Amino acid sequence: MSTPKLPAMALALGLGSGAALAAGPNLGIPLEPADIAAWDISIQPDGTGLPIGGGTPAQGARIFAQKCALCHGENGKGGVFAALVGGAPLSGGIDTPKTIANFWGYPTTVFDFIRRAMPWQQPRSLTDNEVYALTAFILAQNKLIGEDDSMNAETLPKVRMPNRDGFIIRFPDKI
Ligand code: HEC
Repeated sequence: MSTPKLPAMALALGLGSGAALAAGPNLGIPLEPADIAAWDISIQPDGTGLPIGGGTPAQGARIFAQKCALCHGENGKGGVFAALVGGAPLSGGIDTPKTIANFWGYPTTVFDFIRRAMPWQQPRSLTDNEVYALTAFILAQNKLIGEDDSMNAETLPKVRMPNRDGFIIRFPDKI
């Protein structure tokens, strides 16, 4: 049905995109490095990107009770949403719920995820110190660090997650 129209359409598209590329769509504004920095918040497994600051499990416990327990249950045991503590061994099969303790490969992901996504209704509202404290609290609740261990850019990447070696690295030469 539309076959006869195709050559004309291809020609039109070809000409159109060539012109558009040359001139540019003239949309948007130039970004300053500071604008980009506000969004460039990824943390690498080795700790690259972690900000200055720090926090302890005890500090995190207070923040958790105020801002997180509502959804994740008292002390992260699970509530309306995911449990952040515990989890059955993954050897139970593919349907075993994956948790921080039984699945996540790197402690830095806990920091990264909380900072960019939580609390659910107000992402990016926590200070870096609060995120460190909450990360410390969750790791301590999972018995992955001690009750008094402070988490910061030095200590956090050194925490070894139980499932650290449970992943098949797709591009081993890239790490
Ligand atoms: C309004 C509800 C709500 C609040 C409050 C909330 N969360 Fe969440 N959280 C969620 C939802 C929804 C998910 C995604 C659940 C899922 O993946 O099953 C989630 C996921 C998470 C995860 C990833 C869990 C996993 O194993 O995938 C972490 C870590 C987390 N939240 C931490 C926090 C922290 C810390 C706070 C407090 C600062 C917080 N959340 C407050 C709703 C909430």
